[in-house]
Amino acid sequence: MSVAPEIENLLHETRRFAPSSEFVADAIAKPELYEKAKTDRLQFWAEQANELHWHKPFTQVLDWSNTPFAKWFHDGEINVSYNCLDRHVEAGWGKRVALFFEGEPGDSKVYTYLDLLIEVKKAANVLLKLGVQPGDRVAIYMPMIPEAIIAMQAVARVGAVHSVVFGGFSADSLAARIEDAEAKLVITADGGFRKGKASPLKPAVDEALSGGKCQTVENVLVVKRTGNDVDWTSGRDMWWHEELGAVETEHVAQGFNAEHPLFILYTSGTTGKPKGILHTTGGYLTQAGYTHRNVFDLHPGQDIYWCTADVGWITGHSYVAYGPLANGATQVIYEGTPDSPDWGRWWDIVQKYHVSILYTAPTAIRSFMKIGRSVTTHYDLSSIRVLGSVGEPINPEAWMWYRDVIGGNKAPIVDTWWQTETGAIMISPLPGITATKPGSAQVALPGIEMAVIDDDGNKVGAGHGGYLTITEPWPSMLRGIWGDPERYKETYWSRFEGKYFAGDGAKLDEDGDLWLLGRVDDVMNVSGHRLSTAEIESALVSHPFVAEAAVVGAKDETTGQAVVAFVILRRSHMDEIGSDADTSKILRDHVAKEIGPIAKPRTIFVVSELPKTRSGKIMRRLLRDVAEDRPIGDVTTLADTSVMDTITGRINAGAND
Ligand code: WT7
Repeated sequence: MSVAPEIENLLHETRRFAPSSEFVADAIAKPELYEKAKTDRLQFWAEQANELHWHKPFTQVLDWSNTPFAKWFHDGEINVSYNCLDRHVEAGWGKRVALFFEGEPGDSKVYTYLDLLIEVKKAANVLLKLGVQPGDRVAIYMPMIPEAIIAMQAVARVGAVHSVVFGGFSADSLAARIEDAEAKLVITADGGFRKGKASPLKPAVDEALSGGKCQTVENVLVVKRTGNDVDWTSGRDMWWHEELGAVETEHVAQGFNAEHPLFILYTSGTTGKPKGILHTTGGYLTQAGYTHRNVFDLHPGQDIYWCTADVGWITGHSYVAYGPLANGATQVIYEGTPDSPDWGRWWDIVQKYHVSILYTAPTAIRSFMKIGRSVTTHYDLSSIRVLGSVGEPINPEAWMWYRDVIGGNKAPIVDTWWQTETGAIMISPLPGITATKPGSAQVALPGIEMAVIDDDGNKVGAGHGGYLTITEPWPSMLRGIWGDPERYKETYWSRFEGKYFAGDGAKLDEDGDLWLLGRVDDVMNVSGHRLSTAEIESALVSHPFVAEAAVVGAKDETTGQAVVAFVILRRSHMDEIGSDADTSKILRDHVAKEIGPIAKPRTIFVVSELPKTRSGKIMRRLLRDVAEDRPIGDVTTLADTSVMDTITGRINAGAND
């Protein structure tokens, strides 16, 4: 596998930041963790699992006989919500703050662990009243408000399975996810506040359920957030507050088998159809809790933790809704965007709540960098003591800025690599142990076994690049793709015998530290969100103007990658088609409607041909050269070698301005 030249420079990074002696003295993670895990990996995981409360203790740690379908702790019984709430209240921490909610308009609300438990019990009783049974699927389509977490916890509490759909996805995307999971109930809100405005959500649910779609849905539970008028289907729709007000407040959590399904979360792959990634109960919570405690050095009762991710993504599941609550953490959640009312908003929140652990994405850091260090001048960020990064490689420049401007040159940075599929962090420094290195995610966590391998499946040595694989099962691993076990085997386990292939390329430096090189498949990473080229291509060709489309991820200074599309228009529609600029706007809006605004191409090039190999495969590599404004690479495998001249000729002639 070839490694991009700019990566080669990174590997000569010589800066190291060792933890301070004060940090080491108080650190949660001790170096023995690595030794323990090495000596007896399964015993190590059993110890981590026993940090949780088991309704029925497990006797077997791992059953890997039916590979690649793992069973962890599978003769044990556990209740996720009991572990996140009841157990802390029973231990006398009921008055500890669980959530500081900051609404975008400036409203705020505080939930102690006892408050949260009461709300979750009521919500669980509402689910039972609506006939939700263990194993039933519940779709959650919500803004970033406390009720989103309450809903997830309540679904888990009664043993049902949630499928959270990010509020930025369109009605069509929502409908496709509801149908695939055959959800019985949808929990939503009238809307949420974003960028200073009320942004509606309920209309998208109404549209998703219209025209005979999503027949499995019996009810829609609606949280009142914005107070805007909503259409109402009586008999089907109910207000959350009315229902929660009409049920008993007591609910006793029962244990479910450790392999009982907890949630489905859809993510993009290399095909047009999103995959429903399935996670189960005991192993998931074990690893979410373990990583949250050790990677962020969480001191419950002292730290104020803030992860800026939305619950619509895996980060919002593992590091907002589950890991922190399992650990009894106090956390901040924020509804809106970082620029509302201005770019100081996050730093205002850090100051207001004395945030000590901040977990965010490189794309956000780069947006703040663009504004400059003055963005934090008026705020006191001295409470910050640990910084986390996730979603995409963090370039050393952004890493240094994060350390300096946000972390006051003292807070360790943990660059955490993981995926929707891995369920929890897999590669990261441990603060208090690791001397950190700008730009590298460094090493697999204790208990995790990974290898960078070449095309033949052999481990590469220091200084070499290859495919990132996971060589041993791990507790929070996906248990499959909803409804499609074959696709699970094929996607993750077929390329290299006995190893999970993550889709990422990586390089080992001379110290044996890992540098993530991005995806080696047709998956893009825009602002830390995964988008599939095939999915956007299929959205584009569903428009009557488009005959053919090819999508690539092009490097972008702020978002990491940006969506760039090349389209061939249909001759039969030429009469209706206006200028390229008009067409581009129409098609961008069309993609937003089909998938959601996050998938909108940044640039659309109208072309007359696409570069294809003799077997008809689009050569995205060449299109990426165009999109990134580079000289075109080797074209010898093209069926028609003049195609690239035609494309670049037309683009340079300004046909797309
Ligand atoms: C893909 C997974 C894990 C939560 C957010 C994204 C990329 C993730 C890093 C990192 C370099 C990273 C990988 C991975 N990625 N974290 N620290 N350094 N790349 O979850 O949507 O499932 O995407 O995000 O390419 O495969 P996701």
